[in-house]
Amino acid sequence: MKKILTVLILMAFGYLANAQTMNKEEIKTKVDQLVSQLTLEEKASLCSGRDDWSTKPVDRLDIPWIWVSDGPHGLRRAPKTNVPGYGDQLPATCFPTASALAATWDLDLINKVGQALGEECQALDVNVLLGPGVNIKRSVLGGRNFEFFSEDPILSGELGAAFINGVQSQGVGTSLKHYVANNVETMRMWMNSDVDTRTLHEIYLRPFEIAVKKSQPWTVMACYNRVQGIYGSQSPYLLTDILKKDWGFDGIVISDWFAVVDRVEGVKAGMHIEMPGVSLVNDSLIVEAVKNGTLDEAVLDNLVKEILTIVLKAKSLEKEGVDQNIDTHHKLARQVAAESATLLKNEDEVLPLSKEKYKKIAIIGEFAANPRFQGNGSSEVKPTQLDNVLDMLEKEQGKNFKISYAQGYDLANDNNFLMIEEAREAAEKADIALVFAGLPLHYESEGIDRTHINMPPSHNKLISEIAAVQKNTVVVLTNGSAITMPWVDEVPAILETWLGGQAGAGATLDVLFGKVNPSGKLAETFPVKLEDTPSFFNFPGEQGEVLYGERMFVGYRYYDEKNIEPLFPFGFGLSYTNFEYADIKVSADNFTDNEGLTVSVKIKNTGKVKGKEVVQLYVSDKESTLIRPEKELKKFAKIALEPGESASLDFKLDARDFSYYDARRKMWIAESGAFTINLGSSSRDLRQSAEVNLQSTQKVPLAFDEYTFFRAYWDNLQTREFLKELLPKWIANFVPQGKALDEAQFNDFMIDHPMIKFPYISNGEISAAQIKELAERCKELTFTP
Ligand code: BGC
Repeated sequence: MKKILTVLILMAFGYLANAQTMNKEEIKTKVDQLVSQLTLEEKASLCSGRDDWSTKPVDRLDIPWIWVSDGPHGLRRAPKTNVPGYGDQLPATCFPTASALAATWDLDLINKVGQALGEECQALDVNVLLGPGVNIKRSVLGGRNFEFFSEDPILSGELGAAFINGVQSQGVGTSLKHYVANNVETMRMWMNSDVDTRTLHEIYLRPFEIAVKKSQPWTVMACYNRVQGIYGSQSPYLLTDILKKDWGFDGIVISDWFAVVDRVEGVKAGMHIEMPGVSLVNDSLIVEAVKNGTLDEAVLDNLVKEILTIVLKAKSLEKEGVDQNIDTHHKLARQVAAESATLLKNEDEVLPLSKEKYKKIAIIGEFAANPRFQGNGSSEVKPTQLDNVLDMLEKEQGKNFKISYAQGYDLANDNNFLMIEEAREAAEKADIALVFAGLPLHYESEGIDRTHINMPPSHNKLISEIAAVQKNTVVVLTNGSAITMPWVDEVPAILETWLGGQAGAGATLDVLFGKVNPSGKLAETFPVKLEDTPSFFNFPGEQGEVLYGERMFVGYRYYDEKNIEPLFPFGFGLSYTNFEYADIKVSADNFTDNEGLTVSVKIKNTGKVKGKEVVQLYVSDKESTLIRPEKELKKFAKIALEPGESASLDFKLDARDFSYYDARRKMWIAESGAFTINLGSSSRDLRQSAEVNLQSTQKVPLAFDEYTFFRAYWDNLQTREFLKELLPKWIANFVPQGKALDEAQFNDFMIDHPMIKFPYISNGEISAAQIKELAERCKELTFTP
């Protein structure tokens, strides 16, 4: 009877898992009650997982547990929460990996992928999907590049937000990872990302900032690496100051798997849950720290409240009987893969394939029969079905064409050239050869970086040999990240299909046969050679340190600045039609940072088939106090147009789109002056431009101190008065006869010294204490940049 009564009471308060959907207020009330009832040991226990994939419950108070699971491009759900789930995971739709998703540049589509993933999570009882990864592809060698979106922070952040909003619309959480500057796999548990603060904000934090502000992920995953010397899983600067205070993140931080080093420091910094839950050692350290006074219990209470808020929210949004919808999702996976396919070359309109042009098709390369569709590591999904080009071609086009196949290479031996002869004969006898080549699975993996960006020698040789006998040779590439193409001038057509997921084969055929007009654009630069890449001298780093020496000149920012011609530039991708850009208009030639700017442009499909164009907007600062990239992507939009159709696009730019991050003042600054707005079809194909003038209204702290040069104090008319007051005699030495102090003519050497030296430079006219006071007086002063 007593038990029944307890259950009824608990139900009345909504304490039981799955009891009802709760609103924010109800969750808050309940969480406060629960935390007041938890013992110290129970609170500490909630700060780590129960096992591989779940959080800890507290049975005494009916606190439920939730299920978290990889991620990102499909669900890798283990059969139980306490097994790793490699090989025995439940089948789920394997969508194209992040580099392919990014090549779509299509936020609505990525949102749909997110929704589908959310549905699958609901169907398979998963509460939080571990993704997306918005780390910047700093080096082409990064082993996990296939799992990340782009080299550009805006593109990565926007895609991340669209993905998260999609998943979370289904009542399932996400884990935005890996926060932050996790750009190398070598020694990933120790590596220190030695990145300067400005670059950290402008490039590496930016995608996280966009995703947090636009989509509030339920969880953020703290990285393995150190950032500016401190582990990401215990950095107060990253986890509290930036994530929580600056960006307003209201979810919880979970550690990457085994990323925790000093658990108590992690709690203090705002790292909520250690994953996975393998031992209780760290829980007891938390208890001990509270008992010995090194950890304030109120800090722990806050973390636990935030943990329970997410746990209860997740439970209250669980849905019963959701269908995994595998057929619909397979179709969506095919659609996304087709949208991601990036046509890099198409001379003489070799593509699309048609019955009128070709009768006999030679399919060459084992990837056509045995597709490489995803990357290696924790993101590996067990697909619900796996299509291959050979079978699908036979099924969909078998009656229209005579199809032959040759394996071409040996996936187990990169230097086996024995299969080339047979492939060459097949190519010679056909009207067109489609060579499926790229990177074998072991080339791209979590946990290891690449040491070069070449395809296996057997693939490269195969392509050259086929091209020598067949003028209509189309290379169809499968790879998760940039590669070199020594044969680029030998073949008329190249189609990049990335790691296209379980339905990639059908998508490739859709594009090859023109059912889908290719509209993918590179989200990463393809260099001619590894030596051309921005981090060439600083990757993967050494002795636990990786210096981000190229600073904000990552990807196209670097190639632009150094005038290096890439193999294929950022933002590039061809179509079977053409687009014309015209009529750029800006809302004002002169505008303030508060007003912002609207830019519009007209795009017309001038070809014979319908198609989609990704319109890219880049901003260039013409004159800047700090060094800035030649241009930076700020906006983009994908637009579908019928032949002859045109449409106008509007882009709204705000102050941030013109700003740099001032590390000294810890703020974003939009400086007054001239900017160029460029609209283009790629970063190297700018079609329309406008010059505008920004008048800043910002009040920026002067930030003068004892180390600021005399020159700066003198050049500023406010602080010049202080100098005239404090150093009249010394200044007078530089004043031509009969002139006022203001007309002093200093020689450069004398005034390019920090003020701190002036007690002796002025021979005692000013004291060290007065210089301190001077700096103090300047604290309140501002200027308009
Ligand atoms: C990876 C994460 C992944 C986690 C769980 C880690 O090794 O870095 O991306 O979510 O494992 O599998």
